[in-house]
Amino acid sequence: MRRPIIAGNWKMNKTLSQSVDFIKEIKHLGDNTDVEVVVCVPFISLDRVKKELEGTNVKLGSQNIHWEESGAYTGEVSPLMLKEIGIDYAIIGHSERRQYFNETDETVNKKVKTSLNHGINPIICVGETLEEREENKAQDKVKTQVIKALKGVEENQMKDIVLAYEPIWAIGTGKTASSEDANEMISFIRNIIEDIYNEEISEEIRIQYGGSVKPANVTEIMNQPDIDGALVGGASLKKDDFTDLVRF
Ligand code: 13P
Repeated sequence: MRRPIIAGNWKMNKTLSQSVDFIKEIKHLGDNTDVEVVVCVPFISLDRVKKELEGTNVKLGSQNIHWEESGAYTGEVSPLMLKEIGIDYAIIGHSERRQYFNETDETVNKKVKTSLNHGINPIICVGETLEEREENKAQDKVKTQVIKALKGVEENQMKDIVLAYEPIWAIGTGKTASSEDANEMISFIRNIIEDIYNEEISEEIRIQYGGSVKPANVTEIMNQPDIDGALVGGASLKKDDFTDLVRF
């Protein structure tokens, strides 16, 4: 049985004080539920949010990580810094980072390996553009991203990884992939994992869907057999919406 995982990606939203106020409102969402609840907050809020989350069942994640432990990388944040704060997850390869900050499959792979080596669980994002979908290239694109992200990752590390399928055209647009289309791609990703590793690993790995998930569509999405969770942007910023998502 795969444990459902609902993760909020706050993106570049909420100042430090807003983050602290908000986390106080939602920090008990992980209680009395089988759902694993994660919040991925801006770097500067991580430490304070972590302190607020002490003793709760909500997990904490960053939205990025650098692959080196230290060095001349102005503006970057290292795995050692994140580990000391005590984060559980790091989103890696979000399409916004690939699109606006030139992240490539190669840097994604370095970040994945660094995270794993530091005991931080990667949430690896993959997904196609609208153009790629219309040209029937979505599966090829996602396959390449998955294979390259996992290059050199050992079998015994796969249990620490979460994958997130986020079609770029569905992010922040209000357009959701139909739950069947999302399930089809996620099932395809599971087959890729089976090809690279084995059936057991492909059955165990958790794969989320992301892209305009909201209270109105979360149940349908979560009811799909291959979809194990959601990576949520906009609807994770409001208490009522995020509460509904966690209680899908
Ligand atoms: P939205 O839920 O705002 O579409 O964002 C999805 C996303 O990119 C989560 O990482």
